[in-house]
Amino acid sequence: MKIGVSGASGKLGSATIAALQGLASGHGIVGVSRTPEALPSTVEARFGDYDQPDSLASAYAGLDRLLIIPTTDMRPGQRTIQHLAAVDAAVAAGVGHVSLMSSAGTRRAEEPDIWGCYFPAEQRLMRTAGAWSILRMNFYAEAFVQEVRSALDRGAIAGIGDGRVGYVSRDDLARAAAGLLTGDGHDGAIYTGTGPESLSGTERAAIAGAVAGRPLRYVELTEEAFRSTMAQAGLPPPIVAVVVSIRTRFAMGGFDIVTGDIERLSGRRPRSLRDVLSDAFSETDKNSE
Ligand SMILES: NC(=O)c1ccc[n+]([C@@H]2O[C@H](COP(=O)([O-])OP(=O)(O)OC[C@H]3O[C@@H](n4cnc5c(N)ncnc54)[C@H](OP(=O)(O)O)[C@@H]3O)[C@@H](O)[C@H]2O)c1
Repeated sequence: MKIGVSGASGKLGSATIAALQGLASGHGIVGVSRTPEALPSTVEARFGDYDQPDSLASAYAGLDRLLIIPTTDMRPGQRTIQHLAAVDAAVAAGVGHVSLMSSAGTRRAEEPDIWGCYFPAEQRLMRTAGAWSILRMNFYAEAFVQEVRSALDRGAIAGIGDGRVGYVSRDDLARAAAGLLTGDGHDGAIYTGTGPESLSGTERAAIAGAVAGRPLRYVELTEEAFRSTMAQAGLPPPIVAVVVSIRTRFAMGGFDIVTGDIERLSGRRPRSLRDVLSDAFSETDKNSE
């Protein structure tokens, strides 16, 4: 089979390609990227830009399976346009099975709501693709590691409410995506990739503080207080709007989801948030020795 990964040079794309290569199943791997020269020489590299839909016709030609990785584009409304362009191009190119990376909890919502860009692409995929699957991602454990690093000096991490989140490691998602792309029986399936447990902000802060060996508490803010804290920190309004939407969704339990889908697709149990933090901080310790 010819298996394509679109958005191939980013962190999730690179990890998915590495996981596909690790499966050693003799498939041809095609990496689609705006920077094909950055891809490993072991894959067939093609240029493809969601902002130039014409480029996607040749990028997706001849693929049996394709994974569409969403972008981090923060221009209001742009991600919806990009994801729809990618789905439309995959269908027009006659890709045999189209898989979309989406977000845990996705439902109808207006941007800048985090789910606003995922719902239309999921719907378009379901309605137009011959064979399709969706892997909805919970939040990255690695994003929480970054949050902890920047909060340690303050001794506190802040959020809206104290909602539970089933943080998942990006590498676990990549291995699950590789299993999805190479496996059978997934047509019409919607999976949700999560970590093994869902933790409140207070629990997350306690684990992170213990792992980092520094006191860390969780501060529960109202939406307005969180918004003004971010604005005062100098973040541009579109970023503030997206981050507030994510934290509001955390508070309402939108990412309070734990499934067995990572193990189902990858054959491996997902790593816990504690394990991801421990690995990250022991790496830091090694580097500072
Ligand atoms: N932060 C989180 O906790 C979290 C949780 C769940 C999901 N996500 C989402 O998961 C996605 C992947 O994450 P990541 O860590 O891999 O991010 P990343 O390293 O920033 O990669 C983003 C990817 O988007 C692609 N891209 C951007 N603009 C594009 C365009 N115009 N046309 C085609 N591709 C474009 C890039 O592909 P090329 O450079 O190869 O063209 C790149 O591979 C992101 O959308 C992110 O928002 C994040």
